[in-house]
Amino acid sequence: MSIGTGIATGKIILMGEHSVVYGEPAIAFPFAGAKVQVEITANETNTLISSYYHGLLEEVPSHLKNVKDLLHRLQQDFHTGPFATSIVSTIPSERGMGSSAAVAVALTRAFFDWIKKDFTKEELMTYVNFSEKIAHGNPSGIDAAAASGTDAIYFIKGHPITSFPLTIDGYLLVADTGIKGQTREAVKSVAHLFETSKQLASQAIQRLGIETKRAKEAIIANQLEVLGESMNNAHQALQQLGVSNQQLDQLVSLALAHGAYGAKLTGGGRGGCMIALTKTKEQAENISRILLSDGARAAWIQGLGVYEHV
Ligand code: MEV
Repeated sequence: MSIGTGIATGKIILMGEHSVVYGEPAIAFPFAGAKVQVEITANETNTLISSYYHGLLEEVPSHLKNVKDLLHRLQQDFHTGPFATSIVSTIPSERGMGSSAAVAVALTRAFFDWIKKDFTKEELMTYVNFSEKIAHGNPSGIDAAAASGTDAIYFIKGHPITSFPLTIDGYLLVADTGIKGQTREAVKSVAHLFETSKQLASQAIQRLGIETKRAKEAIIANQLEVLGESMNNAHQALQQLGVSNQQLDQLVSLALAHGAYGAKLTGGGRGGCMIALTKTKEQAENISRILLSDGARAAWIQGLGVYEHV
């Protein structure tokens, strides 16, 4: 019996979360440390097998509505019979790593593979954005864009995605607070801040935009210190927007106290993950040990230089 398979990676937002929703640029890249794999096969009924649920697709819990509605839409659009979908993921969910977008990318790829049909990037994005709207309300599309490609991207909402190589001599440590992030709530609370303290909110968003552009230049010019400074300024602006929390701030301070060039939260915030920039792998490993002994749940290290990706 034919099996359709699809794979996608998680993503890390280096710069620009939240401000990207308001039209400012963001930099993100696929995160090699975590991926999701989906398999689809014909079946008597629509079923879903994942670590969160095993049973009829029609009866999935409400937090999997994004998955259910996407599979129904694909089934309707392409008039297929029922099928079984299995999802295996190493991307921690609700930790700012774009787990829901990656699942949607892998599902859509697996479905097209199963029906043996080629698809364009635009078609893929249409289905992933449909699913992401259900998961997050008003997504900028950055998670979907980062999870569907292989390069770092410079992303502006509503514009064509441009990729660029990460060729900076540094390492990025990603540490998980172990607390579920709350992207939907955090995005809503920034919108609320715009209503109650417009000046504060727009200044913080503008600052994030400026720092993201500066970070891009720093990456191109291989200036680690400048990139680190931009990350620190971005974290402050995200604090002003109210999307950090005590655990993220604590891990950020600890990383800086132990020699990181810069550190900030990544993704939606209010939990989830933080990132720290170091010159060497040893520094990243050292800080990783310190953060893990101070309560971080997990940590990953990714090289940012071009040679790290080969
Ligand atoms: C979530 O990974 C990134 C946010 O900027 C939301 C979005 O862009 O849709 C917080």
